[in-house]
Amino acid sequence: MRLMITGINGLLSQNLVQEFSDLYEINGIDLNPGIYPADQNIQVTQLDLTHTSELAKHLQTSEPDVLIHTAAYTNVDRAETERDLAFAVNAVVPGELAKLCRDLDIPLIHISTDYVFSGDSGPYAEISSCDPQGSYAESKYAGEQAVLNCGGQVAVVRPNVMYGHGVQLKSSFVAWLIKELQQGRPVNIVDDQYNNPTYARRLATVIHQILDKKAWDLWHFGSKETVSRYTFALNIAHTFGLPSGLINAISTVELNQSAPRPLRSGLICEKVKQELDVPILSISEELELLKEEMNAS
Ligand SMILES: NC(=O)c1ccc[n+]([C@@H]2O[C@H](COP(=O)([O-])OP(=O)(O)OC[C@H]3O[C@@H](n4cnc5c(N)ncnc54)[C@H](OP(=O)(O)O)[C@@H]3O)[C@@H](O)[C@H]2O)c1
Repeated sequence: MRLMITGINGLLSQNLVQEFSDLYEINGIDLNPGIYPADQNIQVTQLDLTHTSELAKHLQTSEPDVLIHTAAYTNVDRAETERDLAFAVNAVVPGELAKLCRDLDIPLIHISTDYVFSGDSGPYAEISSCDPQGSYAESKYAGEQAVLNCGGQVAVVRPNVMYGHGVQLKSSFVAWLIKELQQGRPVNIVDDQYNNPTYARRLATVIHQILDKKAWDLWHFGSKETVSRYTFALNIAHTFGLPSGLINAISTVELNQSAPRPLRSGLICEKVKQELDVPILSISEELELLKEEMNAS
């Protein structure tokens, strides 16, 4: 069985590789060369997904049995000035992939985000109304809607504030915080943005369940409690034995970021728990799992 993963070098993809490499022959796509050692036998094709005719040819010749689309334009602030590029990658590509997969009869799992919601009244369920704010959010919303409306065997999964273990990653919040606290540097963390962060390693197991159960639907996945980013930071410091006194609370407006952030966000995960039989763990439990994972590597 062949699994194709777009954005193969990214955080979620590296966790998908861990989850699926014993079961599938993995064929990845990314802008840059693959980061995987030769003995892992992960074939990586360098391809810009916005080159849709090349993408179509590649898909037709590779004939994957399943496709997981993780690649995205993820710079939320830069998307305000690169709106066309954000839409090309986050809105047009998913729509094209969905059509290709439908026509070639390939099941597709697409990764969206909690940014599809306004962030006024979270946590949100899968049936809550969307109201994306800012270019990144609008582009991701257009992408997931194109996938959901295309027909075929498609599932869309929305994580929020994703973190996890990997190599050569762009800095994620958890990795950045650990490094700053280890080096004794004070950090300012917002105390007015609420989420239930998603641990990428467990999101990979949710995606495995979706594939096994052929659960073609819309899914939310995060941790048990919805907390402020400041509380999340204190949890990280506690788990990794780092000095929490270096963490100062500030407000989102003080950061003066270009793009709006959903303040009261978070994702209700009852459906994953009930229908996919995946337990929803606390932030502390998942951070302990991350620590074990990091110690083992
Ligand atoms: N990380 C989060 O907190 C978070 C939260 C909610 C939802 N999500 C969603 O979850 C998914 C996975 O996120 P992630 O954090 O694992 O992403 P990531 O680490 O940024 O990885 C994405 C990968 O896709 C590649 N890529 C970007 N544009 C491409 C293109 N045109 N053609 C081919 N490859 C391209 C990137 O290459 P470059 O690095 O060279 O650009 C990168 O290797 C994304 O859809 C994201 O929107 C993420």
